[in-house]
Amino acid sequence: MSQSQETLSNLLQETRRFSPPAELAESANVTAEAYEEAAADRLGFWARQAERLTWAKRWDTVLDWSNPPFAKWFVGGELNVAYNCVDRHVEAGLGDRVAYHWEGEPGDTRTITYAELQREVSKAANALLELGVRKGDRVAIYLPMIPELPISMLACARIGATHSVVFGGFSADALRSRIDDAQAKVVITADGGYRRGKPSALKPTVDEAVKDTPSVEKVVVVRRTGEQIAENPRDVWWHDLVERQSDEHTPEPVDAEHPLYILYTSGTTGKPKGILHTSGGYLTQTAYTHYAVFDLKPETDVYWCTADIGWVTGHSYIVYGPLANGATSVLYEGTPDTPHKGRWWEVVQKYKVTIFYTAPTAIRTFMKWGDDIPAGFDLSSLRVLGSVGEPINPEAYVWYRENIGGGRCPVVDTWWQTETGAIMISPLPGVTAGKPGAAMRPLPGVEADVVDDQAQSVPNGGGGFLVIREPWPSMLRTIWGDDERYVKTYWSRFDGLYFAGDGAKRDDDGDIWLLGRVDDVMLVSGHNISTTEVESALVSHPKVAEAAVVGSTDPVTGQAIVAFVIPRGSAGEEVEGEGFVAELRGHVAKTLGPIAKPRQIMIVPELPKTRSGKIMRRLLRDVAENRSLGDVTTLTDSSVMDLIAQKLPSAK
Ligand code: WT7
Repeated sequence: MSQSQETLSNLLQETRRFSPPAELAESANVTAEAYEEAAADRLGFWARQAERLTWAKRWDTVLDWSNPPFAKWFVGGELNVAYNCVDRHVEAGLGDRVAYHWEGEPGDTRTITYAELQREVSKAANALLELGVRKGDRVAIYLPMIPELPISMLACARIGATHSVVFGGFSADALRSRIDDAQAKVVITADGGYRRGKPSALKPTVDEAVKDTPSVEKVVVVRRTGEQIAENPRDVWWHDLVERQSDEHTPEPVDAEHPLYILYTSGTTGKPKGILHTSGGYLTQTAYTHYAVFDLKPETDVYWCTADIGWVTGHSYIVYGPLANGATSVLYEGTPDTPHKGRWWEVVQKYKVTIFYTAPTAIRTFMKWGDDIPAGFDLSSLRVLGSVGEPINPEAYVWYRENIGGGRCPVVDTWWQTETGAIMISPLPGVTAGKPGAAMRPLPGVEADVVDDQAQSVPNGGGGFLVIREPWPSMLRTIWGDDERYVKTYWSRFDGLYFAGDGAKRDDDGDIWLLGRVDDVMLVSGHNISTTEVESALVSHPKVAEAAVVGSTDPVTGQAIVAFVIPRGSAGEEVEGEGFVAELRGHVAKTLGPIAKPRQIMIVPELPKTRSGKIMRRLLRDVAENRSLGDVTTLTDSSVMDLIAQKLPSAK
């Protein structure tokens, strides 16, 4: 394969710019100087960020990189993560500040102050100790979005146990393999949670999973829905165990490199990888980035990240980062459309949310539902908007900015991964003139680059692979129990560089655009074309809400572009006809050039997504190439593929 074939074509042109609002720029937590400061002395910069935390013992060495790619940050330092997230705020006189405004899906609520959080976490820590959980033991957590979820995580951190949160939507098999891999001693779960207006059981899945997990000694069950559950010998009710515990517990300082948690991420192949995060560096970077990227003012802001805590976004930006910063957050249990499609905006209005962090998949769903829904609520409290999880299409960015942000809020498109632990590439809301669709620049202290297949930095205007050149504090330390796989997956593609697995381009100003997973890049007539760019071109058509693009084998061009398009709610009837498809093909040709024109466009009602909201292009490739579908077990809703299949004859 020639080098030009290995380099991504740089097709999308975007000229819109949004400067930071003057007021925000004037009072921003972080100014442009931070970039220079970090460039002059990266380790000194991170050491200063670590000083945001309270250490029981100061570190001797900021970074030990003598055995790459195994990093040790803040060597010799000791701290307790839960103390940093809870107790120290209470000691500073902030016990009455709200840590979480919790909102259950049925509309029940709970307000938890830092003082109350300290008591709850202490009780839960004492309960775990009573069950025999000790420093270094693993605890699996399989809970809905209820306060007991962060409380359980912090209780583990408090006693030095390593938690492994498993997203509540995962099956018994997925849960079993994660419990087994981590050799968890205790599982914390609930009878169920609320989803789409009804109780959704969790306990039967746990019962099924722990049949074959000999490591599990106890299953602690929170009563949430009150539905009948089977009671097994290992079960103990949370309210029987935790409520009677003392609400005082002295947190134990641990080594900076003590394992804080394992979080499993399903690679494209093979068994899930247990991503290991440790204590001091992780908390340093989550706290710093939450402060810098969202311009958090803990005295006045109300922050809401809509992710599920079962994903890394929730770990870093609902639990650890915000709490380390003493923030007030909203914690919401349910789905965006229950009991109605304006539910999220109602929550923003109710709590006067100022900082809002969500995913492109949600934004595109709201675009599809129509502008009038958010318009029915008072969103004037908002001042910063964030996006994470996938590339945000420029049109979705602009829609978000206008319809949610009232045209006044900066949008920060934050690139990172489960593996990076914290945000790596993002605009700074008081500094950066944002471009719709671009993650812009690596944060201060982060050395990200775009390289070609020879590991050479690409010039401005070029495309290639995203890499990280230097270790960062919140980086994964290994894959749990599999150092070799860690080295092979992340550090072998390019010698000495962390390979993120994403395609990226650097525009003429040197700003970075993410172009999707490299597995999703298409090779059309010798040009590497990004699925993201073609999708963004489709979404820039006023009648399109969402699009997914795949490469399908083609006798002439090698691969040909096949697109799946969901029209906007307001688009009307004509979107069914051939004329609409022709119009869209023409639109892509005009926006990106004829090379990017899809061979085929299918109009569909839904797209297949993973439970974390990413489009499953692999299944769409199966459809495009007329194959039987591969593994659909990680799909949120498998009926989606039936809906798409029904559309096929007319599209072929
Ligand atoms: C992958 C990591 C990071 C928390 C949620 C996902 C994609 C993430 C962006 C963004 C373009 C993005 C990448 C990355 N991704 N954020 N702002 N722009 N792509 O964590 O499940 O570990 O997925 O999500 O492809 O590699 P994850």
